[in-house]
Amino acid sequence: MRNILITGGSRGIGLEFTKQFLKKGDRVFVASRKPEKSTELRELKEHYKKQLNIEQLDVSNEISRSQLYEKITKVTDRIDVLINNAGIASGNEKFRYQFGKLNQEDLCRSLLINAISPLMLSEKLFPLLRKGKNPIVVNISSISGCISSKKGNGSTGYGYSSSKAALNMYTKMLSLELKKEKIIVISFHPGWVRTTMLYCENAPLEPQVSIKGMIAVIESLNLQDSGKFLDWQGNELPW
Ligand SMILES: NC(=O)c1ccc[n+]([C@@H]2O[C@H](COP(=O)([O-])OP(=O)(O)OC[C@H]3O[C@@H](n4cnc5c(N)ncnc54)[C@H](OP(=O)(O)O)[C@@H]3O)[C@@H](O)[C@H]2O)c1
Repeated sequence: MRNILITGGSRGIGLEFTKQFLKKGDRVFVASRKPEKSTELRELKEHYKKQLNIEQLDVSNEISRSQLYEKITKVTDRIDVLINNAGIASGNEKFRYQFGKLNQEDLCRSLLINAISPLMLSEKLFPLLRKGKNPIVVNISSISGCISSKKGNGSTGYGYSSSKAALNMYTKMLSLELKKEKIIVISFHPGWVRTTMLYCENAPLEPQVSIKGMIAVIESLNLQDSGKFLDWQGNELPW
């Protein structure tokens, strides 16, 4: 039984990861700011009483990260897969700022939630990861963070795109740092997936399909793949 930690699992991509790993028989720690509000998580807990641990976590809060660490260590001393999935669209979640109407606070918030927090959580959980079986850190990034293919601001905005580019840099640096510990670190672009995230409500890709693809990729990874930016089908993407 693998121990999987998924952030931002109350809905969308994180929730679907939770469902699919549970079906595979793994133990899942699923965390979000308000997990008690997720009816689907509550229903899953009914079916997977022993496998599923629902935790409260604000990824951007140091105390909250420490509390999560303490809670996990009461159950296990190892994490095998950490999925840094929690993310926000813009900081205000109603629209993405265009040049001329930028908002400093929300730009900082995007960077904090989407990039800095996954890095800080990975550091906090390092003692558990280094004891993991073939441990993997998966950062859920986006093609929006790809600098070389950027064609314009589009709908993804300065905050979101730059936060995912920063996350990709953290992936690369962490992969180099953690190579000696044999911990694999990758960035994923999940595709454009239908979720509650801003501009994703009518996206073409079903979460079930994207997550099935990403789990197949996760299960095929080896140390040579560490530091890569991959899409949900395992294709390598440019930075
Ligand atoms: N959907 C797409 O097409 C797409 C494409 C590329 C990349 N992505 C990435 O995939 C990830 C998941 O996106 P999604 O589409 O599933 O979005 P979503 O439906 O809006 O879900 C976001 C999740 O993140 C959690 N969250 C937000 N802020 C948090 C915080 N400070 N601490 C802990 N949890 C937090 C939310 O739960 P609470 O509100 O309960 O905290 C929720 O569970 C994000 O990183 C996103 O950038 C998505």
